[in-house]
Amino acid sequence: FSHSLIDKFNRRHDYLRISLTEKCNLRCFYCMPSEGVDLSPKEHILTDDEVVRLATLFVKCGVTKIRLTGGEPTVRKGIVELVGRLHDLNTYGLKSIGMTSNGIALHRRLPQFIQNGLTHLNLSLDTLDPFKFEIMTRRPGHEAVLRSLEVALQSPDLRSVKLNVVIIKGLNDHEVLEFVAMTRDQNLSVRFIEFMPFTGNKWEQSKMVPSSELLARISAVHPGVIKAADELNDTARSYQIPGYTGSFGFISSMSDHFCATCNRLRLTADGQIKVCLFDNKEVSLRDRMRRGDSDNDLLRIIGQAVQGKSEKHGGMADLDELREGPNRPMILIGGML
Ligand code: GTP
Ligand code: 5AD
Ligand code: SF4
Repeated sequence: FSHSLIDKFNRRHDYLRISLTEKCNLRCFYCMPSEGVDLSPKEHILTDDEVVRLATLFVKCGVTKIRLTGGEPTVRKGIVELVGRLHDLNTYGLKSIGMTSNGIALHRRLPQFIQNGLTHLNLSLDTLDPFKFEIMTRRPGHEAVLRSLEVALQSPDLRSVKLNVVIIKGLNDHEVLEFVAMTRDQNLSVRFIEFMPFTGNKWEQSKMVPSSELLARISAVHPGVIKAADELNDTARSYQIPGYTGSFGFISSMSDHFCATCNRLRLTADGQIKVCLFDNKEVSLRDRMRRGDSDNDLLRIIGQAVQGKSEKHGGMADLDELREGPNRPMILIGGML
């Protein structure tokens, strides 16, 4: 059981990202086209029982960390209860349940999420300016996100709170220092993310700011900045200003991809296993489950998918493939899913 999630390159997959819905209450331009995306019919989306069945198999095979994504995971009905059911997998070795959310509809329910077992929260917030927020997300709601952040930072049982900031040149790159200032007195980890190309998201190289440039700008103002420790499988390279409570970091998916230490597998909302963000070879676990496959049959399919995982994606080298290939728009993968 426990060996089936090790791939040909000896990568052990102990992190499962589960997309719970394709829907979202925002329309971030870098994530989806303005007209939205074609959603799968409701019956194609995994039910709670199916999610729990698959999650159980993955945890029994060595997954210790689950992250719930979307679309926007909080728009799924019954998600608080689902977190509670996933939390029961702690008996099989699950150690953490995280969620990546835009924070629009979260602040009131966050205490219930935490009570049911949520341990890690990543909030997406690209700008501290309410006006720019509406440009980037094509929806109002800036204040609601800030409120969610506040509630999160005041929740002692959350083991980590991170902010995801996708940097777009000329739009929010000049806010980097303001975001860094938020880490002075708050136990917050801010991550600046390089803008990545996906089907229909109007990516242009000129809109991307390499992490090295942002670090140089921060160091010019804070010459004492130090490298902080990273976990082996972290997507971010972290830094800290001496004396500050929190930290900041860079997710350099484009300029310095981290495939060699990738430990992630993804389950899409419609039940496909996706072994790499950039992989189009999806396999439907939903169809197999619905036609009556046993757990062992499913494990075989999962094992085969893991064995088929490529060594790396090309990042900048494979731009055309990323932009024009048959990959799903980000929202359907789970926001970098
Ligand atoms: P942690 O559990 O806090 O480490 O979260 P995370 O960084 O894995 O997840 P999150 O959902 O917050 O995603 C943040 C960003 O990480 C996304 O916007 C992506 O840019 C990037 N990312 C996540 N997974 C992958 C991956 O498998 N490959 C690449 N290239 N980028 C990824
Ligand atoms: N490039 C980089 N990050 C992206 N995200 C969504 N689309 C993109 C993109 N094109 C981010 C979201 C969220 C995270 C899960 O993925 O902002 O924080
Ligand atoms: Fe929704 Fe996240 Fe995509 Fe924005 S990036 S549209 S919040 S799924």
